[in-house]
Amino acid sequence: MDKIILKAPAKVNLSLLVLGRRSDGYHEIESVLATLDLADELAFSLGERDGTQVGCRGPWAGEVPVDAANLVWQAAALVEKEASKVGFRRPDGAKIELFKCIPAAAGLGGGSADAAATLRGLNRLWHLGWGEEKLEALAARLGSDVPFLVRGGTGLAQGRGERVKPVRSRLRLHLVLIKPPWGVSTPAVYRGWDAAHPQAVLGQGKGARSRLTRGLIEALEAGDETQALGFMVNDLEPITMGLYPQLQAARQALASGGALKVMVCGSGPTQMGIMDSPEAAREVASRLSQQFRGWWVQVACSAEPS
Ligand code: C5P
Repeated sequence: MDKIILKAPAKVNLSLLVLGRRSDGYHEIESVLATLDLADELAFSLGERDGTQVGCRGPWAGEVPVDAANLVWQAAALVEKEASKVGFRRPDGAKIELFKCIPAAAGLGGGSADAAATLRGLNRLWHLGWGEEKLEALAARLGSDVPFLVRGGTGLAQGRGERVKPVRSRLRLHLVLIKPPWGVSTPAVYRGWDAAHPQAVLGQGKGARSRLTRGLIEALEAGDETQALGFMVNDLEPITMGLYPQLQAARQALASGGALKVMVCGSGPTQMGIMDSPEAAREVASRLSQQFRGWWVQVACSAEPS
């Protein structure tokens, strides 16, 4: 069989509402997510020997672990284990080549996207015949963002992020992404949220928060960008900005460059400026690349309207 080549798109959170801390240590969230045209690429082929080999190239290859810490490797191990339960034996293993274009520890879901693509790729390579529900259930075992990234597009994620419903958005957002030359630990940001909300009771105020989510989904479905912008909130943003005040300068530069809205992506440290046209996005990106030497600056678009 020839190579199977899959894109693994990055995600941004158009909203990320933290509803409280759960007894399992995770946080209950409500988040509207959208995939981007920025993507890693994975090529799957049968291996020459038993076992899965993972190789990595591309602009961000240096930041990616090549051992079991890599989510691609973990996803492959999970698929093998699950397939062996139904008597599947792979004669040749698999060779996975990852081309890394999404920066790591950026809040853009890069590792999770690679894991989701690995589930889809090995399902096809090994003719396992698993449907999307089965893939999403496996995805939830790999990370909170992985189930959404199995299908991508625009979606609502609930629970710790693993319960996903599609959203039929009619908007395509033009973005400028900017990330400093360092990453952020998601658990550290969630710990910051805990410290800032010592009295938080799980589920308290859920009604008001869910109205924000519903408002955002309705605006996306109606294709009303102005309305949608008003409902976009990231509860982790004040925590990340508080921990890393050096992000403020980029925020101001995006705003003064005409961004309709500036948001931290997930737990950060990437920030996105939502621009009113692709031209405006390109212009601001070129200015920011000059101004923020050593930072990563990228123009991107959100998922195609459905
Ligand atoms: O699920 P994932 O492994 O991507 O999560 C990484 C970490 O982020 C978790 O160990 C947890 O500290 C934090 N997290 C959380 N609540 C969520 C998602 C992630 O506390 N809903």
